[in-house]
Amino acid sequence: MRRALSGIKPTASPHVGNHLGMVMPAIALQESHACLYFIADYHALTSVHDAAAMRQWTHEIAAYFMAFGLDPTRSVFYRQSDLPEVCELAWILSCVVNMGLLERAHAWKAAKDRGNEGAEVHGLFAYPVLMAADILIHDADVVPVGRDQVQHIEMTRDMAERFNFTFGDTFRLPEAMVRQEVHTVPGLDGRKMSKSYGNTVTLMQSKKALRQQVMRMVTDSTPLEDPKDPETCNVFALYRLFASPEEVAEMAARYRAGNYGYGHAKMALAEVMEAYAAPARERYMALLADPQTLEEVLRDGAARARVTAREVIDRVRSRVGFVGRGTYAG
Ligand code: ADP
Ligand code: TRP
Repeated sequence: MRRALSGIKPTASPHVGNHLGMVMPAIALQESHACLYFIADYHALTSVHDAAAMRQWTHEIAAYFMAFGLDPTRSVFYRQSDLPEVCELAWILSCVVNMGLLERAHAWKAAKDRGNEGAEVHGLFAYPVLMAADILIHDADVVPVGRDQVQHIEMTRDMAERFNFTFGDTFRLPEAMVRQEVHTVPGLDGRKMSKSYGNTVTLMQSKKALRQQVMRMVTDSTPLEDPKDPETCNVFALYRLFASPEEVAEMAARYRAGNYGYGHAKMALAEVMEAYAAPARERYMALLADPQTLEEVLRDGAARARVTAREVIDRVRSRVGFVGRGTYAG
């Protein structure tokens, strides 16, 4: 069975972009792949410097995945920082990857454009190396992610190839898996939904708060009675991702007919989102109220993840000429 692997940072509660771009595609792969999913807290540490927030968001992500169908008995579900082998591999990869490759990373380039790269933490520059270690440590075949992560998977392949060339065949080359229909989910203002733009919609908040977020969506000033183009409207773009094909066709017809305002469309959107979110929200709340069980799940996942991680790190250590098995070997 092919192996799927992905991670998500505990930097906030997942938003609808994360949900459709990464969470649901990843969970769906449980049907056809051996899955490993993790909470990327080592990565989050580049920006989250608040221990209580780190713990809280870690549990929120764990509860979120399980509420939407991640089955920890079928998939290996763990916290990245419970796998110290990842850091060991990241260092080893750091010694084969050149600076030029890392300097081309979008996130680093953005930091440079802001003109403050000297003030950025080293972890931001090294971020793609740690991510390559996450993936290569498990011999992953496919990595379900949103489109903005594709460059990181390509860099992972580069690092794996460079290592294989230098030390002999060691790593499997992974492929990104991006769901085309949701490759970029739009946010409240029509730009890519992203924490950094403050334009997100989240599903696990209350029904009322969800509706309030949807009502804040930015639309143009076409008068109520005029026909509207569904294809250029971000309310319709989100509706399409939650409603049935019949509902979508019906809303498109209403847009084109006129006498249908954006307010109506937003209400319909809030309704389909609420119907989608409500059952998961109940499970989510119950899981969050039981942190001990969440911890047990994550610890059990880490124990299983370390078995495969150990195989790969042993292989790597031997290739580079380290004689011992390292301090983590049982
Ligand atoms: P953000 O951009 O809000 O900081 P992250 O970078 O933490 O989100 O993304 C976590 C996962 O969700 C990644 O796999 C990313 O590609 C995916 N993702 C984020 N935003 C979107 C979006 N608007 N549409 C589709 N996928 C997304
Ligand atoms: N960088 C990813 C993000 O920002 C999270 C991540 C860390 C990840 N390690 C990974 C995703 C390995 C896939 C595979 O969303």
